[in-house]
Amino acid sequence: MKTRTLGKTGFEVSEVGLGCWQLGNDFGPVEDKEATTILQTAVDEGIHFFDTADVYGGGLSEQRIGQWRNTLSKSPIIATKVGRDAALYPNGYSKAAVKKSLQASAKRLGVETIDLAQLHCVPRDVLFSGDILAWMEDLKKEGVVQHFGASVEMLDEATFCCAHPELASLQILFNVFRQDAVESLLPLAEKNNVGIIVRLPLASGLLSGKMSLDHRFDEHDHRSYNKDGAAFHVGETFNGIPFEKGVALVEALKAKLPEGQNILDVSLRWILDQPQVSSIIAGASRSSQVTRNAAASALPPLSSELHALLTDFYRAEVRGHIRGGI
Ligand SMILES: NC(=O)c1ccc[n+]([C@@H]2O[C@H](COP(=O)([O-])OP(=O)(O)OC[C@H]3O[C@@H](n4cnc5c(N)ncnc54)[C@H](OP(=O)(O)O)[C@@H]3O)[C@@H](O)[C@H]2O)c1
Repeated sequence: MKTRTLGKTGFEVSEVGLGCWQLGNDFGPVEDKEATTILQTAVDEGIHFFDTADVYGGGLSEQRIGQWRNTLSKSPIIATKVGRDAALYPNGYSKAAVKKSLQASAKRLGVETIDLAQLHCVPRDVLFSGDILAWMEDLKKEGVVQHFGASVEMLDEATFCCAHPELASLQILFNVFRQDAVESLLPLAEKNNVGIIVRLPLASGLLSGKMSLDHRFDEHDHRSYNKDGAAFHVGETFNGIPFEKGVALVEALKAKLPEGQNILDVSLRWILDQPQVSSIIAGASRSSQVTRNAAASALPPLSSELHALLTDFYRAEVRGHIRGGI
């Protein structure tokens, strides 16, 4: 597993990390034993960067990570998020409330200081007021967090955060079906030494290539109840692309790939081929997926012809179907 520097944190993180939303059972139930196996497999594969949030399973994801972390001799780097729990979202934001949320996360994770705390897609007006970033700066000085970053929905939010002198990292939606950051954001992030953490690298599993129109999701899975954005931002589920359209686009792209290339490897490798990306936090509902995704680190870069094909396909076929803005 290769490593990359995560922006101003200076942390050397595995270029493939593990997203842990699913450990909150928000993609359907994951048993405790399977959750531990997923985490342990990640470490066995050389993954030592994990992303979670206080609201994943109402704290369950953080709690599972914290309990498992206590059994390790060396702690991996754990990034969590703040800003979407009921005390804060949508209009309870204050420095004291943010601090309280972070302290609760630290307790669940079993740490005194959080390695990296990211603002969790806070409302645009809250973000753009600038106060919340100033509070994070204070909380860093107070030792509640070692570093802070932001997870955002839209590129204008990312650009705004990038300008903050102490912001260490940005977490963005970025994959072969959402490529706009390549031109607009990634060069700016590099210039400002902001690490890029990539979420939804597989567009909620679509880009694994395994889904068909008759694929059924558990009723507790956001891919069932949020596929059209009924519960939270539409972009967080299938990248904002209507499921049926997404399946059709994946099949169309598969047919264009050179022989011997499969869409999952191509999708993960395309992200890693962007030098400004620090880590891909792919989710995994079972340990075999962790192993498969970690293997992307050892794959050779895609050819320039394949990069061109993916760019053209995105612009011509995909971009117009993304809902919720870019
Ligand atoms: N607002 C935010 O800040 C925010 C929002 C969303 C996500 N995130 C973070 O980003 C992480 C990743 O996002 P995500 O999990 O939503 O999207 P993702 O990584 O694109 O998709 C993950 C899902 O795809 C399927 N999958 C993964 N690897 C596979 C493989 N090798 N073969 C077949 N299927 C595979 C699994 O679901 P099934 O097996 O069940 O199909 C897995 O749960 C999250 O865990 C979370 O940490 C943050």
